[in-house]
Amino acid sequence: MSNPLALPVDVEPLITSLPLSEEGLIHYEEQFSRHYQGWSEILMENHERLQRGSYSLHWMNTDGANWGKRAKPSSRGLTYTDTNRIPAYGTLPEHAEWRNFAPRGSVREPYRERMPVLDEYVVMERDDVWADNVLTLYEEAKARQWNATRDIPWGELEPLPEDLEKATCQLCTFLTEVEFVAGDFPAKWLYRIPQDFLEVKSFLATQIMDEARHQEVFRKRAIAGGGLLHASPGFEWALKAILEAPTHTMGTFLLNLLGEGLVLSIFRSGEMIAKTFVDKEIFRRCLQDEARHVSYGVLQLKTHLDAAPDREAALEQMHRFADVGEMVILTAFTEAALVEPVAILLAGSLGKIDQGMQGLAHVWTMFIEEYFARCDRAGFDRRARSRIPLSAPWAS
Ligand SMILES: [Fe+2]
Ligand SMILES: [Fe+2]
Repeated sequence: MSNPLALPVDVEPLITSLPLSEEGLIHYEEQFSRHYQGWSEILMENHERLQRGSYSLHWMNTDGANWGKRAKPSSRGLTYTDTNRIPAYGTLPEHAEWRNFAPRGSVREPYRERMPVLDEYVVMERDDVWADNVLTLYEEAKARQWNATRDIPWGELEPLPEDLEKATCQLCTFLTEVEFVAGDFPAKWLYRIPQDFLEVKSFLATQIMDEARHQEVFRKRAIAGGGLLHASPGFEWALKAILEAPTHTMGTFLLNLLGEGLVLSIFRSGEMIAKTFVDKEIFRRCLQDEARHVSYGVLQLKTHLDAAPDREAALEQMHRFADVGEMVILTAFTEAALVEPVAILLAGSLGKIDQGMQGLAHVWTMFIEEYFARCDRAGFDRRARSRIPLSAPWAS
């Protein structure tokens, strides 16, 4: 066979974010031309063997395989916990070496030298993504999926007085904005995690689905009630601080412990701020999903800190990150487009907004306390260092 592409030349790595253009296509051609030796030898060997009419059947050789070690289902069915009881499949390396798609527990060693390398698989330390509850949370997430089209009794949505409808729709606009980053953050990191940590990838996939459903349900609630209202720069800066966190653990801490902790507190207040049966049902369902994400975040941070070779240094890095992250998130927490509608919903009308702000001050203190308690559970004491006020800025 002749070389179907030009000979290798030194080229920049493929810029995957480019829209498909002549330039993008040229990059792609050059990339595979550069690695021509890697894959063309395989292609030529295959071609020759097929032309000779001979079979390889090397894949039937079980040397180095874990052939015959059969997983047994438990009462729930066949879970990852069940397959992971077989050590050859269930032992996660502390440090991943395979930056490709080769399955953990498969026969992959003989092919090591001929495998491609995926440059964007960069999360190679288990304890930067792992949490001991991830298998249970994954099972729970699959069992509790719901459908924002069908499972919410939209037909029973009652019209509200204009102040309450606007407040509800503004809160839904905020939540729609927030739910987007809650999906984009795990999506960004899922792609960077190699195959050896497949259970975490699976769990993050459920979180992405959960967040897609959340942004869907709040968008639909707003549009069914009155309409989307105001996007907000304060929210956007907070979301940017999450998405651009320098490590997975840091971003997970900011998203799952702080950001989603706030959302969880809002959902928990559902009985007070949800003004229709439909809204209560939306909050109730979202609350269950968010509890899983928060639970993963707490244990992931704990795992990261417990495994750090120098715990003090790891804590100091997290503190430096949190010093910035908390302040940026505080920008969102203090935005009028969030605080005012929640106060109106708590009090029951625009006329009682002062009363609502007092009620919200109690929620604020409770929320910050809950946040510190989550940090404590992860072994990350923020109480002394955090500059987030324990009392709301307007509290007397
Ligand atoms: Fe969410
Ligand atoms: Fe979430």
